[in-house]
Amino acid sequence: MVRNMRIRTMPYRPKLVVLIIVVIIVLITNRTIFYIRSSIEDVDQAKLKTLKKLAKDESLATVNRISAKFAPFQQKQIQENFMQIEQLQDAKTSVGQPQSEKKLQPPVQYGKDSYLKYFKDTNDNDIQDSFVNLHNYGFILNNKHACNKNVLVLVLINSDPRKYKERKLIRDTWGSVRFYSGANIVPLFILAKVEDQNLQDKIVLESKTNLDIIQGNFIDSYRNLTYKCVMGLHWVQKYCNHTKFVVKVDDDTLIDIYHLVRFLLQKSPDGNVEDFLYCSIYHNQGPRRTKDDKWFVPESEYPYSKYPPYCEGFAYVMSYDVTKKLYHASREVKFYWIDDVYITGFAALKAGVFQRNMESGHGYNLLESEHLSKNVQSSMFLLAKYEHLRKNWGAAWNDIKSFHQIE
Ligand SMILES: *[C@@H]1O[C@H](CO)[C@@H](O)[C@H](O)[C@H]1NC(C)=O
Ligand SMILES: *[C@@H]1O[C@H](CO)[C@@H](O)[C@H](O)[C@H]1NC(C)=O
Repeated sequence: MVRNMRIRTMPYRPKLVVLIIVVIIVLITNRTIFYIRSSIEDVDQAKLKTLKKLAKDESLATVNRISAKFAPFQQKQIQENFMQIEQLQDAKTSVGQPQSEKKLQPPVQYGKDSYLKYFKDTNDNDIQDSFVNLHNYGFILNNKHACNKNVLVLVLINSDPRKYKERKLIRDTWGSVRFYSGANIVPLFILAKVEDQNLQDKIVLESKTNLDIIQGNFIDSYRNLTYKCVMGLHWVQKYCNHTKFVVKVDDDTLIDIYHLVRFLLQKSPDGNVEDFLYCSIYHNQGPRRTKDDKWFVPESEYPYSKYPPYCEGFAYVMSYDVTKKLYHASREVKFYWIDDVYITGFAALKAGVFQRNMESGHGYNLLESEHLSKNVQSSMFLLAKYEHLRKNWGAAWNDIKSFHQIE
């Protein structure tokens, strides 16, 4: 019997051994995987990459399914990490990075209100900028009498010194309307310094002829646009503090000036309007983090993920008191080179001024021929992309005039 049993059980023994060995191997492998996984815990990049692989198709259900094979504490960790990845991607896409360039980075530490830290992290040394904080503006050219009358609206046009043709287009069209419906309108071009003496001579002549140029004593470049805008506000306080409204536009914006004047008269029937900052509002935006973007901002310059709400810069309308508030607020707001964000975002927040969103139709429509006629009728501001500028500008202006029955 004993012999028989041994003989019978013999064939099962090696199977059992194999089974035990397999179990041990599986256990060891699992442990090893766990240890490997743990050892990369400290390295954020590697960890996120591994987990990213795990969450390949980016659905929480899949992650749950996969993580069900792990111990509960590991499951929890995996799910947490997945959430982190999701948040990262949200942060990435919302700052406008193309999907294909999604790159995993250490977790974003700042949320929606991260821009508030821009104020918190400011110390006295950060607000000593000679122009935007101390307002030490000097004018190479200044038509200081341009506003010497009863003015409804002063239009400040940020202009590149080299863009004489664009200024001429404006002067020949909406900029030529200086009086409408009993109201005075003053357009002024805001320029800054150029190195080229030849160009400077031309600008001097242009200013003498048209009396509509202000030229600041800092280099004209897009990195200095904030200087231009604060200089505009400075000029308003100094030479035009009786205007009811100030509009800021770029030199590629075509204004339906008749529509604008009617709208402003309607807004201030008794001549008084306050706290009016009217524009197309950007919410929940952040800096561009793609290196070859013209508006790229490295984290060293702006480490937070969000901007405060701010106005699209092609056109915004301010009541006079708003210009004054923003101007004074700029003393305490650290320089930031993206002018719309600086003026209508940070300075507005500091001054307690809130943007009002443009009514539909008032906002811009790109100045493209196929849209032209129908949009002109409702728009106040039309934006011409450079290549369309000369082609459609005159036609759009003619449409505007005929719509308002102007000869
Ligand atoms: C203006 O911009 C230029 C080039 O971006 C820079 O070199 C210059 O220092 C800036 N500031 C002033 C005050 O001109
Ligand atoms: C405008 O400026 C003049 C002269 O600088 C000053 O006398 C006047 O009080 C100012 N008005 C307003 C509304 O700030």
